[in-house]
Amino acid sequence: MKEVMKDYVMKHKNLRLEKVTTENYWELGHLCVKKEQETFVGPNFYGMAYAYATVAEGKFAQAFGIYDGDEAVGFAMIGHNSYAYEGCPEACKHSYDLWRFMIDEEVQEQGYGRDALKLLLDYMLSFPDGEEDTITTSYTKGNTAAMNLYLSVGFAPNGEEDGDEVCLVLPIK
Ligand SMILES: CC(C)(COP(=O)(O)OP(=O)(O)OC[C@H]1O[C@@H](n2cnc3c(N)ncnc32)[C@H](O)[C@@H]1OP(=O)(O)O)[C@@H](O)C(=O)NCCC(=O)NCCS
Repeated sequence: MKEVMKDYVMKHKNLRLEKVTTENYWELGHLCVKKEQETFVGPNFYGMAYAYATVAEGKFAQAFGIYDGDEAVGFAMIGHNSYAYEGCPEACKHSYDLWRFMIDEEVQEQGYGRDALKLLLDYMLSFPDGEEDTITTSYTKGNTAAMNLYLSVGFAPNGEEDGDEVCLVLPIK
């Protein structure tokens, strides 16, 4: 198996992923991105609702709070072979997909995004829903921060687009 972010040393040692529960639902829902980033990712409440609907249909979705100790600093959601809607990039039909990912506006540009991505990739590489060959994600054109971050850990465009989103693929085998 391919190693990803192998020698990366976490900046925030207490950073962890915590599954969404009825206890942390509200605080995670109220985390926000900057006004100018609102077109890059939907509100977290929508993400959690969509994860619920996906699981209710018998498909795989997991939503996480990103915590530094007790402080909620971000939100992420992953899927696995979870969608095949019309126009869906082929690459996303058979992959672990980083579906939603945000760091709260108050704590961006402090290394939380890169650390959290490391935790999320490690988790997907543990194959919580069975083995897979690729991890996918996407970014909205113009989202330089997300693009830089994803490319720097090995994601690469495969030429597919989904509306104004650029599809990225990370081979893991
Ligand atoms: C993308 C995002 C998660 C990054 O989180 P972050 O905590 O600010 O990122 P970090 O401080 O860990 O920085 C990681 C890398 O992101 C990139 N980056 C972060 N902010 C950037 C900026 N303002 N301009 C350019 N690149 C930037 C850099 O490559 C950076 O690495 P470097 O510090 O070694 O140069 C955050 O900006 C965010 O939540 N954005 C809004 C939601 C979003 O766009 N989500 C992605 C959906 S595809």
